[in-house]
Amino acid sequence: MKIAVASDHAAYQLKDFVVNYIREKGHSVVDFGPESGERSVDYPDYADKVCKSVTTGDSDFGVLLCGTGIGMSIAANKYRGVRAALCLFPEMAELARRHNHANVLVLGGRLIGSELAGWIVEAFLASTEEGGRHQVRVDKLETGPSGDRVNGN
Ligand code: RB5
Repeated sequence: MKIAVASDHAAYQLKDFVVNYIREKGHSVVDFGPESGERSVDYPDYADKVCKSVTTGDSDFGVLLCGTGIGMSIAANKYRGVRAALCLFPEMAELARRHNHANVLVLGGRLIGSELAGWIVEAFLASTEEGGRHQVRVDKLETGPSGDRVNGN
């Protein structure tokens, strides 16, 4: 699989770990940066790169990291077709894929260590969408319950 990854400065080190971890698992990674954690950057700029890669189909999944993961989650979920899930445990990542059909995993670099991050990434990539009743709910995320768009983007 091809995975798009980006962070801000606050999660640069964990991003580096995650990029290598995913590559070691045999997947291809597009690293959208930043190239170091020395300069302060704005997380929406990096969410944009990963979300566009996922929604155009260039990447199968995205991984976004910031200090808490909250800013990246808010930014990513503004993009139509992106279902970004901030996960603190492997169980959350598994269910985000199975039930919410998440296509972007979000991690908080100031909240979790690299070992836990690896388990979360592994759970996310190993889990598949269940479809069925979950697909009905996921469809409503895009259209709203009555077919009206709930967001303007
Ligand atoms: C950067 O200091 C921090 O605000 C950012 O990484 C993130 O946690 C925002 O949600």
